[in-house]
Amino acid sequence: MTLAELLPSVAASVQPRLAPGIWPTGTHPTPGGDLSFGGIPMTHLAGRFGTPCSLLDEAEVRSRARAFRAALPSAEVAFASKSLPCRSVLRWLAEEGLSLDVCSAGELAVARSIGFPAERIMMHGNVKTPEDLKAALSYRVGRIVIDSLDEIDALAALVAFPQPVLIRVTPGIDAHTHQAIATGVEDQKFGFSLASGAALVAIEKVLATPGLRLVGLHCHLGSQVRRIDGYEEATRRMVGLLARVRDEHQVVLDQLDLGGGFAAAYVDGDGEFDLPGFAHRVRATLGYECSAARLPVPRLTIEPGRSIVANAGVTLYRVITVKHGSRTFVAVDGGMSDNPRPALYGARYTARRIGRHGRAALRPATVVGRHCEAGDVLAEDIPLPEDIRAGDLLAVPGTGAYHYALASNYNMVCRPPLVGVCAGEARLLVRRETEEDVLARDLG
Ligand code: LLP
Repeated sequence: MTLAELLPSVAASVQPRLAPGIWPTGTHPTPGGDLSFGGIPMTHLAGRFGTPCSLLDEAEVRSRARAFRAALPSAEVAFASKSLPCRSVLRWLAEEGLSLDVCSAGELAVARSIGFPAERIMMHGNVKTPEDLKAALSYRVGRIVIDSLDEIDALAALVAFPQPVLIRVTPGIDAHTHQAIATGVEDQKFGFSLASGAALVAIEKVLATPGLRLVGLHCHLGSQVRRIDGYEEATRRMVGLLARVRDEHQVVLDQLDLGGGFAAAYVDGDGEFDLPGFAHRVRATLGYECSAARLPVPRLTIEPGRSIVANAGVTLYRVITVKHGSRTFVAVDGGMSDNPRPALYGARYTARRIGRHGRAALRPATVVGRHCEAGDVLAEDIPLPEDIRAGDLLAVPGTGAYHYALASNYNMVCRPPLVGVCAGEARLLVRRETEEDVLARDLG
């Protein structure tokens, strides 16, 4: 018998530590090889809600929202609802004083269903269908972010009162992220190019369109952005454009939205996004550039999504089978239907076995899903106990953003529930999907 088995408190302490920043701060190792999530053992949550199961730590969501507000007290912080369009989450963030970014009538419907204050909502999207625009106008959202010349005409034809709008500008900045989520560069579908002059043309057109009230400019560099220099450069270029609008049209715009994209930590060594550094450098650049251009400092908006919710989430899976060969494949009861991010963006995750202590050494293993595709991989070559076996539970951190939102029914697999945990209480936020749900849309 080992010391760890004789003394559970020692067992807890000899478990591999939890990498900082990846797990919610309320997650701790407990005796017996479990993890406590917001005060509840994860094994209990798996028993009560089944697997796969997504957990969300409400305190972590709220504290990350508060950190953004504290870092930039005079800025508007708008949660990008696409990262986690869940009613309870929007309610928490409304209570925390955040604004909201939606990019479809569907996301707006989620916000509307909980009475999210309309004046704090912004509608985005490179394609806004007539239904999207009508929904935005009927709820009287605070701002619509114009993304194309066609949209200016479409919106003007629908408005019955002056609608505040921003123009989405492509500042031509490489944010050093995956190509599929880089949006600040030229030659992609979003916004009006700054370099080509398209942004000024759009500004001119909006200024000349009755029913639209231009209040500011917007840009978004991309997602999972770690470097701050791109935001500084965007600030310089956007202030340059504000100055040109003032010079050419005698209009002083008082809002500047720099979008979101702040990186989350997924694997050991990722480190946290430097939020204080971002706040300091962007505020300083904005102040300096505005004073040099003799412009009043516009009200800053930022739109974090991932950085508020990703690290508040953990997904629990049950190991169904283990195959040993040239590699060890640990196959679980979920996969690319609840997490397509590795397949889409080459995203990396880690995982930890919970619920029993092993004396076993850690060996590289690849966690794969249940779907009929070789690319259905959840975490590649990660250290797991070599005695891992069917029936074990795995906890995967960093799953709070773009998991629920991107989940599908591939292979007619039902989507997992989302469970909120707060002060030792667990509550279903979104129930597990059933085969009846899935069949209901197929009319036979
Ligand atoms: N603002 C705008 C205009 C956006 O398009 C986005 C994300 C955000 C804010 C929020 O970005 P965040 O802070 O969450 O990085 N499905 C991909 C991410 C796509 C992001 C799309 N736009 C993923 O799973 O990595």
